[in-house]
Amino acid sequence: MEIFADTYDVEAIKELYDFGILDGVTTNPTILANSGRNYKEVLSDIASIIGDKMLCAQVVAKDCAGMMREANVLRKIAKNFVVKLPITPEGLKACQILKSEGTKVIATVCLSPSQALLAAKCGADYIAPYVGRLNNIGANGLDVVSSMQAIIDNYEYDTKILAASIKSVNDVIELTTMGVGAITTTPDIITSMYMHPLTNKSIVMFDEDWAKSGQVIE
Ligand code: E4P
Repeated sequence: MEIFADTYDVEAIKELYDFGILDGVTTNPTILANSGRNYKEVLSDIASIIGDKMLCAQVVAKDCAGMMREANVLRKIAKNFVVKLPITPEGLKACQILKSEGTKVIATVCLSPSQALLAAKCGADYIAPYVGRLNNIGANGLDVVSSMQAIIDNYEYDTKILAASIKSVNDVIELTTMGVGAITTTPDIITSMYMHPLTNKSIVMFDEDWAKSGQVIE
């Protein structure tokens, strides 16, 4: 499963990159606006940390021509830039053009299985359903993702699901059982994935017992 950090936080990205488990970084217009910095500076800083890992940012234009103009600006920022397009008819048009030009695409804010089907048919590399936002309106985000994954599997589309808006480690694990190709979530949740109180306790016990033995591994 590919793991993306959904953040502008350069320090957190550095830490996760060094950790060796990061496949890329996703942003959205809210994330970039919340950074309080110029979007190009933030994206360039992230690009310089993650090298050839994927860097993803979203266009905000509503028509295909405008989306293409913005995509042309964005894809110059990083070696492996992935353009996020909203799942609208104009977004799907832009998706097909960008794919024909060899640029990777995420069909984002993809909230229903029928939207996922259309995005996969238009060749999107990833479709991004928002699990937490679906749960927040009383839908079942994981069930929606599961239907999307079934569509992709039934028709053997190359598209991967990039499950987004994930609010817990349990959600991540549920998504792995569905065979979802990628997730994006906050650095906090990614960090929580390796934490377990019993792991820490056991390491402390081993250290104490080894110290009592007076031996050194050398
Ligand atoms: C996806 O790429 C989005 O940036 C994101 O995951 C949205 O998450 P949120 O619902 O926590 O804002």
